Amino acid sequence: MITERLDLTTGGRAEKIARAAAILKNGGIVAIPTETVYGLAASAYSDEAIGKVFAAKGRPQDNPLIVHICDSAMLSEVAAEVPPAAHACAERFWPGPFTMVLKRVPAIADSVCAGLDTVGVRMPSDETARDIIRAAGPLAAPSANTSGAPSPTSAEHVLHDLDGKIDAVVIGERCAVGVESTVISLAGGTPRLLRPGGITVEQLREVLPGLIVDPAVLSEPEKGVRVASPGMKYKHYAPATETYLVEGDSAAYAAFVNEKSDRVAVCFEEDTGVTGRKLCYGSGKTESTLARNVFNVLRTIDTLGVSAAYVHAPSKTGVGLAVYNRLLRAAAFRVIRL
Ligand code: TXA
Ligand code: MG
Repeated sequence: MITERLDLTTGGRAEKIARAAAILKNGGIVAIPTETVYGLAASAYSDEAIGKVFAAKGRPQDNPLIVHICDSAMLSEVAAEVPPAAHACAERFWPGPFTMVLKRVPAIADSVCAGLDTVGVRMPSDETARDIIRAAGPLAAPSANTSGAPSPTSAEHVLHDLDGKIDAVVIGERCAVGVESTVISLAGGTPRLLRPGGITVEQLREVLPGLIVDPAVLSEPEKGVRVASPGMKYKHYAPATETYLVEGDSAAYAAFVNEKSDRVAVCFEEDTGVTGRKLCYGSGKTESTLARNVFNVLRTIDTLGVSAAYVHAPSKTGVGLAVYNRLLRAAAFRVIRL
């Protein structure tokens, strides 16, 4: 298959968006930019189209997809019950990097929900994503990467993984947030954070003071135990190079990595004591800069031909919690505490 390039950076925006929507309405699959990461979209009502998404990514069948909507009116087309807490969250965090798990309507393709009676719903703030949804209807879209690889924050990342396997890619800007949306469950019981993301726990608790953080966010799920968010149990975001997450202050981190040979240090711009090969992924004091670059550096590690990568762990506050959560999985839960 030849993957059509719909490049919005070279003009003809309206026609290219119409073309993407036509492919989607005909049962095709199209990678689209969003403010978090690029998504691989398909009609949320077509099991056949969703099947193509799972196949292109090599995604395990039991991991459900998020359905993307463009306005509040579309929420009732996908969710059967919208409790008051969900209305409050929608009001505060949509459009934006925020997903709510709610009771589903029967019309959604069963494969989107992977056999669950719930559906994850998100209204992205990215204008291109919303224009495509407006023209094509609700779209199921996981991140547009090969399953297990770091999520794509640019069209180049998408093409690296999926060129020739998908109908088209809409080429837009680099993703502004850089990590995926926050996922919470509001489908019964106490509101629960399933995946940290662009909206922080601190922001969520202003609307949901009782919010629980699922233990899977910061620890390795035990084998055989049912997890609330199926996506959390898989090895994720991982470079092929052996990767470690290193906790400690700048001086301790530099002293530790400077002892290692044949490695890359993935560090903060403040880590000026680090010598030898290094990749800087932002400022340790400004977690949003780390979020924007984390997947790009995880992809770069494998191009260096080193035998190990030591990543300076971010704080777990603000969007740092999402960055830490992704790095923990990229490092297969190998954490070094200095
Ligand atoms: O920012 C994002 O959310 C991106 C962009 C493209 O919108 N999408 C994304 O999708 O990250 P994906 O498929 O890579 O991650 C979806 C996560 C998984 O961890 C999945 O297990 C969880 O959401 N999820 C989806 N539906 C769920 C449901 N009904 N119940 C529990 N977890 C659900
Ligand atoms: Mg993903």
